[in-house]
Amino acid sequence: MLKEDVAEVLITEKELQARIAELGKAISANYEGKDPLLVCVLRGAVVFLSDLIRQITIPHEIDFMAVSSYGGTRTESSGIVRILMDLTTNIQGREVLIVEDIVDTGLTLAYIIENLKTRRPASLRTCALLNKQERRQVDVPLDYVGFVIPNKFVIGYGLDYDEKYRNLPFVGVLKPEVYIE
Ligand code: PRP
Repeated sequence: MLKEDVAEVLITEKELQARIAELGKAISANYEGKDPLLVCVLRGAVVFLSDLIRQITIPHEIDFMAVSSYGGTRTESSGIVRILMDLTTNIQGREVLIVEDIVDTGLTLAYIIENLKTRRPASLRTCALLNKQERRQVDVPLDYVGFVIPNKFVIGYGLDYDEKYRNLPFVGVLKPEVYIE
């Protein structure tokens, strides 16, 4: 059972949903009349995006991109990022909001911001469910943040270890014996 690999529940399903409702409300107020495009960074953010948009009450669109960092180890990012799947939407002149599940070193988001900026959107902002602030290597502007979390190996609610645990409805900490061989 996946749940048996969880050492502790860091953020409960109820806490997640309550905070996401607040984020949805803030985004709806700030983007009123602007038809924003929410850019979901696959794969982890897909669970967050799907709950977030159901808390947004204004017209908006969604699109997806997939990036991968390579050259690093499983837990350490190299900072080299490449686009595996690009947006299908032309974002020139659009109000763009990048949706991420977690910002850790910040390298992935920094790359995405720089890349999307070159396409000249009207505005480019960021929304991250989880901010692992103490791991940051590069400064990235976070406009909407769900929770600041400690430097622990988190899984669930979209976040995986070895592609598993994304389906857990809460954010949990993985038992070390699962990933230390
Ligand atoms: C996670 C997360 C961010 C990135 C953050 O994705 O969704 O994109 O890592 O790390 P960073 O701030 O150190 O760059 P991951 O590479 O695990 O892919 P996934 O979303 O497909 O699980």
